[in-house]
Amino acid sequence: MDTYWNHNTAFHEELVADAKNRGGRVLDVGCGDGLLLQRLAPFVEQVVGIDPDPEAIVHARQRLSAVSNVSLVVGDFLTMPVPSQEELFSSVICVATLHHMAPRSALLKMRQVLAPGGRLLIVGLAAEKSIMDVVVVGLLALPIRVVDRIHGGMKDPDVRIVDPKESLREIRQVAHEVIPEAVIRRRFYYRYLLSWDKPKGISE
Ligand SMILES: C[S@@+](CC[C@H](N)C(=O)[O-])C[C@H]1O[C@@H](n2cnc3c(N)ncnc32)[C@H](O)[C@@H]1O
Repeated sequence: MDTYWNHNTAFHEELVADAKNRGGRVLDVGCGDGLLLQRLAPFVEQVVGIDPDPEAIVHARQRLSAVSNVSLVVGDFLTMPVPSQEELFSSVICVATLHHMAPRSALLKMRQVLAPGGRLLIVGLAAEKSIMDVVVVGLLALPIRVVDRIHGGMKDPDVRIVDPKESLREIRQVAHEVIPEAVIRRRFYYRYLLSWDKPKGISE
């Protein structure tokens, strides 16, 4: 199956490089058609993708048919069983999917399934609610259009899409309550990147 470029896959290289440093088991929450899993698989022990869309998982299975260290689950991340202590994930990655779920429940679950010493990485979309949000989006419009052209345009896979409801400020508030040490920064391509290292001493 083909690879393609869009405002989500633009982060893949960075995400793979980061996960590679830790190795171990990696979970992709909302894995869609599995392109990120395909890119992660050669560098880590095992990759697990979960997505409630059966068609997306069919595409992911086709893409990953020759890959042995992958496990694909049709399901809702929020109700996914928490793995045993030994099977907790070294990296939990979530690209353009947090806004499909209730953010507090999703962050709590991500915290639970992450191994102590592991890292959570979320590439997210936020709603524009403040003047600052609107100004930033306005300033980015032209440079992003130029970069899109350089990449020959975007190709979006056939996955479920919804508009984000929470603003970056609201995401920061929830993250501050659930994973206070999380670092959240605005990034190019109308995205933010949330990064959180789970302290080694905590089990939940
Ligand atoms: C915009 S797509 C992003 C897919 C992929 N991460 C990418 O970057 O192309 C959002 C994905 O989140 C999935 N999704 C929605 N609700 C979910 C949930 N509760 N648990 C896991 N995945 C979910 C959708 O089915 C969809 O595939």
